[in-house]
Amino acid sequence: MNFDEYIDRREYPTLKWSRSFLSEHFGNAEAIPMSVADMDFKSPPAVIQHLQKRVSHGIFGYEYRPDSYFDALSLWYEKRHGWKINREHITPSPSILSSLSILVDQHSNEGDGVIIQPPVFFEFHIVIRKNHRRVVNNPLKLLNGKYRIDFEDLKKKASDPANKVLILCSPHNPIGRVWTMAELKQVAEICKRNNVFVIADEIHADFTLPPHRFFPYLKVADGENAASCIAPTKTFNIPGVTDALCIIPNEKYRKRFLEFTGRYHINKVNVFALAATEAAYREGEGWLNELLAYLQENVDFVRKYLHQNDIGVSLIEPEGTFLAWLDFRDLGLDVKMLEKFLAQEAQIALAPGYWFGREGAGFARMTIACPRRTIVKALNNLKLAASKLPGKPSG
Ligand SMILES: Cc1ncc(COP(=O)(O)O)c(C=O)c1O
Repeated sequence: MNFDEYIDRREYPTLKWSRSFLSEHFGNAEAIPMSVADMDFKSPPAVIQHLQKRVSHGIFGYEYRPDSYFDALSLWYEKRHGWKINREHITPSPSILSSLSILVDQHSNEGDGVIIQPPVFFEFHIVIRKNHRRVVNNPLKLLNGKYRIDFEDLKKKASDPANKVLILCSPHNPIGRVWTMAELKQVAEICKRNNVFVIADEIHADFTLPPHRFFPYLKVADGENAASCIAPTKTFNIPGVTDALCIIPNEKYRKRFLEFTGRYHINKVNVFALAATEAAYREGEGWLNELLAYLQENVDFVRKYLHQNDIGVSLIEPEGTFLAWLDFRDLGLDVKMLEKFLAQEAQIALAPGYWFGREGAGFARMTIACPRRTIVKALNNLKLAASKLPGKPSG
């Protein structure tokens, strides 16, 4: 695979690259787009070929998810993550965020607390608020450059009977932690003891950098009071095709979920998602392995560049995901100044850290799933802009 290939994404109305999106969110239509978490790479060749084949068939009528679709999914999870998913526990869903929203709604009441671990994917706050629940923060602690779960605080928050749900981001967007088995077990133990329903968002499961290993929550925890949200969309860069699955071991809860998706007719099958997902899980492994090696090189490049150039910016070492969480605190800029500095002076569109909660202030998230030359350009811009800050050496 040639991940160095530059592909013009503006040929289609791509959110990340759209000038109106960049203008609206960054006030700079020409900023280098690195804020949205999708990849500037083509999907695996097998996915493209199967989609082309599906298109040439020419009939796009109603379909159903065949056994071969579920077999491909199960084989993938068993092989890559040692998790034998019980076929009966799988419930299709339009997207991960749809699953999160339905599960929050079904496992808490209006006004109840939903625990999250900021800095965390900003849509979690939005899901909670749109469901008229309260955001309850169990902030991660940054110690010696590594984020950790504050278990004492989690115990406190979980033991409040008003807090009914925890949304666990595993691996964690934006800070790139891949939770260890021991950490997940501790989360499971606390939540079980306090009857807190755990929604594990595992969309980034396939993005781990060696030696880190992803442990599926439902393999680690007793699944009676939990659900796991999985999808092929990040892994194979097909979020625009949309497909997701929710694994709900508890029969009563699973039926409730299925009743909901049935009631609102959001259980329809997209013919392209069927073709893409099955092809990806059956034939996409070699591509993913190459991609992970390329992403590792991108991470290494960012780390080395920041280290060698003394810009006052450092990388929080990611263990997984395709996101780099950058620490700008040494630049001494407040939230608004940093936002302006990145978008206007450095001309790069990074997701500002405060989008992920107040704990993210002073940080920003860079999507590094792009050809290296995009990263080189972005970092060169950053270096130049930083050199113009008062008190910085020039050049
Ligand atoms: C942690 C996490 N969950 C969910 C999503 C969105 O998933 P979907 O598009 O399936 O709703 C993203 C996308 O960035 C994500 O990073």
